[in-house]
Amino acid sequence: MAGLIKAVRGTRDLLPPDTETWNFVEGAVRDVFRVYNFSEIRTPVIEDLQLFQRSVGEETDIVSKEMFAWEDRARAASEKGQWLALRPENTAGVVRAYLEHKLWERPGLQRFYYIGPQFRRERPQKGRYRQFYQIGAEVIGPPAAGSESPAVDAEVLEMLATLLDRLGIQNWTLQLNSVGSAGDRLKFNEALRAALKGVVSRMCADCQRRAETNPLRVLDCKVPEDQPIIETLPRIGDYLDQASQAHFGEVQKILRAVGVPFIVNHRLVRGLDYYTRTAFEFTHGALGAQNAILGGGRYDGLSESLGGPQAPGIGFAIGEDRLVMTLQESATAGARPADLYIAPLGPGMNVAAAGLARELRRQNVIVSLGDEGFRLKKSLETASKTGARYALIVGENEINSGQFALKNLGTGEQVSIARGQIAPTVKAGVSPS
Ligand code: HAM
Repeated sequence: MAGLIKAVRGTRDLLPPDTETWNFVEGAVRDVFRVYNFSEIRTPVIEDLQLFQRSVGEETDIVSKEMFAWEDRARAASEKGQWLALRPENTAGVVRAYLEHKLWERPGLQRFYYIGPQFRRERPQKGRYRQFYQIGAEVIGPPAAGSESPAVDAEVLEMLATLLDRLGIQNWTLQLNSVGSAGDRLKFNEALRAALKGVVSRMCADCQRRAETNPLRVLDCKVPEDQPIIETLPRIGDYLDQASQAHFGEVQKILRAVGVPFIVNHRLVRGLDYYTRTAFEFTHGALGAQNAILGGGRYDGLSESLGGPQAPGIGFAIGEDRLVMTLQESATAGARPADLYIAPLGPGMNVAAAGLARELRRQNVIVSLGDEGFRLKKSLETASKTGARYALIVGENEINSGQFALKNLGTGEQVSIARGQIAPTVKAGVSPS
């Protein structure tokens, strides 16, 4: 026999009842986005490899180690060969679309959101997949439209707090930092390199590599032995110019005024090169080492690095897999079982049951249908096991008399009711759920 083919490492099938939670999350976030006046954007999963090299950055782990990229050869004389990649994140794609469609010509700021799969070839573990899903948003536009304003940063952060609260996620922590302007970063990087010279030989192998390629990432190291050394390194906060300091101060001031709690984490630098000024993550205890539910920040120079006009922006992406996991671990959301299981009893009864099911579903009763070939005992067992609240028996007698036996599977109580009473009785019994 041929071997079974399995889902590719780091990818997975999302099955019911989990998909119920995914739909609950997506429905709730779409509602929040609507209230904050964000509109959906859908960009392709495949992009030109260069897009990520020029935005996320060639020296980042994401681009240098984790991309699914391949050379797509020309198939016809009219076509060019090209290096393509599965998107590892979606900010680059959104900014590309902004430039390609000249969206700066539209009035005001562009406020987009997206929900979709991203791909990174990381080592799979709890909360880390090679195909994962992000729910993200971006606010972008010309400076004249107010895109640089710290009020936008605060608005985005306040929306995130509202969103997590609405989903019932408790005990999140907002970690906030400013990584400064490109100029601030240059000065800070220099200071960091200088400070690392004397100490890096005592640090982990990853830090030794990062000290060469991307010194900022040293601050992200989680190795316990390296922590005392990292504490002695310079802080980005001391290298911010006056404008960046004022910007960061104003973001914090608004957050305090609207009552969004946060902590300033001067070591938060993020793993993508395009960030400037405000950078943030929301963490949650239930996630362990992979504890960022979401991350984001400002990217005031990204458009220019992709050949576009000035278009400062800020955004975030929530790891939907991690969000769903957090919800499931706190057991606030779950699949909704059927309200009613219909058990057709005896030959010919599938026909009658189908008609009744259609009638009840039109009245918003969640119905699960059995089969006339099942014995009553098997039907009732199935109904109980799948968590249905009621079972309804549909046999010759019931159809002829118009009276149906409705069994409450929780209490075992059984009543005989008229057809028209089934929906109201079941709905009264299952709500509030
Ligand atoms: P990021 O921090 O790379 O930022 O990813 C955002 C979130 O995606 C993470 O906090 C995490 O929850 C989730 N995530 C990342 N990798 C994985 C994985 N392998 N498995 C499961 N979840 C994962 C960005 O992607 C930026 N584009 C965010 C942004 C938008 N910045 C500005 N605008």
